[in-house]
Amino acid sequence: TECDPKAMKKAAAEKAVDEYVKDGMTVGLGTGSTAYFAIMRVAELVKQGYRLKCVATSQQTEDIAVENGIEVVDINDVDYIDVTIDGADEVDPKLNLIKGLGGALLREKIVAAATQMEVIVVDESKIVESLGVKTSLPVEVCRFGHVRTAYGLKLQGCEPVLRMKGGEPFVSDGGNYIYDCKFPQIDKPFFLQSAIDTIPGVVECGLFLNMAAAAVVAHKDGTVTEMK
Ligand code: A5P
Repeated sequence: TECDPKAMKKAAAEKAVDEYVKDGMTVGLGTGSTAYFAIMRVAELVKQGYRLKCVATSQQTEDIAVENGIEVVDINDVDYIDVTIDGADEVDPKLNLIKGLGGALLREKIVAAATQMEVIVVDESKIVESLGVKTSLPVEVCRFGHVRTAYGLKLQGCEPVLRMKGGEPFVSDGGNYIYDCKFPQIDKPFFLQSAIDTIPGVVECGLFLNMAAAAVVAHKDGTVTEMK
């Protein structure tokens, strides 16, 4: 049916691609289970004859894109990216985001910063009044001294938990660790981002503030709406 979670992700992703991706563009491809459907829709457009150059936000996304016939270029070889379609873990009413539960936040943020139109694709369960209420904030940190860095994060009022995978610390595409930081709620995201960014050892945090231009949101009743 139209209401199962997969169908909702697909509906949002396809609407976003159809609305924002035009022939000749340089397109950023996001990471995660919602962005996956956007990649597959971009692949369909390429098969229809669209000439698109794409930049990937993770190794996983690059692999999926290449397997499906999409031309993936190095971000260093483009001047800017016209539109990026990516997922998110939380979206607030001002389109500020938490991202990184999939572990690709560093590349996602570099790509978003190089993008003219960052379009977020989510289902309605990701929409929150205030960031941090549902999910932890992922923070990517250098492996060297990571316990010290986590102590600095804790002083910001959260409970940092080292992300694990198969009994070992999870290692990002950039070769770093991730701490998932549960805050009671993030009232002042801009202050928090500055505070976190000044801790030595922090590579990047999952707050994406003033970066998204639109969010395409799929609802349980099968409708898709847009926040701008
Ligand atoms: C990847 O690092 C994340 O930022 C994803 O964009 C986010 O976790 C959304 O993924 P899903 O669409 O799978 O929920």
